[in-house]
Amino acid sequence: MATIIGICGKGGVGKTSLTALLVKYLLSKGTLPLLVVDADPNANLGRVLGITPEGDIGTICDDLLEETKKNPGSLSKPELLRIGLEESIAEEDGYDLITMGRPEGPGCYCYPNQVLRTILQTISNQYPVMVVDNEAGLEHLSRRLLRRLDLLIIVSGPSPRGLRTAARIRELVRELKIEAKNEYVVVNQTGADGTDWNTLSEPLGFSLSGTIPRDPLIEEYDLEERSLLALPDTSLALQAAFAFFKRVIPPISSGQ
Ligand SMILES: Nc1ncnc2c1ncn2[C@@H]1O[C@H](COP(=O)(O)OP(=O)(O)OP(=O)(O)O)[C@@H](O)[C@H]1O
Ligand SMILES: [Mg+2]
Repeated sequence: MATIIGICGKGGVGKTSLTALLVKYLLSKGTLPLLVVDADPNANLGRVLGITPEGDIGTICDDLLEETKKNPGSLSKPELLRIGLEESIAEEDGYDLITMGRPEGPGCYCYPNQVLRTILQTISNQYPVMVVDNEAGLEHLSRRLLRRLDLLIIVSGPSPRGLRTAARIRELVRELKIEAKNEYVVVNQTGADGTDWNTLSEPLGFSLSGTIPRDPLIEEYDLEERSLLALPDTSLALQAAFAFFKRVIPPISSGQ
């Protein structure tokens, strides 16, 4: 069974950037092939990884749905979902990317969630690791796209408010009975002002698992739309993220 790693947190805290760094880390460890899932309807993980995915599940399923309306009975719903998933996979060097996207049709929003929930579990078994970049906020948790995770990484912004949101996400995970074997909170984009993040998080009932500094290189790569996979080892954010991953991700053998 694949090791499933989910990244979540509120808007703009750095989930996608950290997911890209995680992909880079796992690739460097030779944990191949990876299944990478962009579960944010406002998809941009592909671009951060330096690729333009051909299509997303939402759009592909919507198109197929239109087709089946013209030819009723031509495709069963499970077949349609399977084709949508297969066609949306971008096969890259060392990893496959699935982009969930947002379907256009009204009321269809839950559709790709359903696809992912039912089929991801199966397809993930073909990979040693599945990494999922989630959409911002807490709503996606309630849709329970992922019910079982090996690692849940909650990314917090560099403020007390950010930490409180992380605490709220932890609560929600319990309320929704999402089974996360290990859960970690990291503060991203910290400054050099000497804030003691550990002390700030203690009253909120969790101990922090890492901090990742604000790094001008990440901003630069973002502006220039360069792949974070090409970020040099000198990047301070990369170094901190890799040190965190090394602490929390157990060695995973390929083809497990
Ligand atoms: N450690 C960092 N140092 C500097 N800039 C960063 C860092 N992490 C993320 N950023 C920048 O912050 C912005 C938001 O990052 P990112 O898109 O990864 O966040 P997100 O949580 O995925 O956002 P969304 O909720 O919109 O999906 C981007 O411009 C990114 O380049
Ligand atoms: Mg994102």
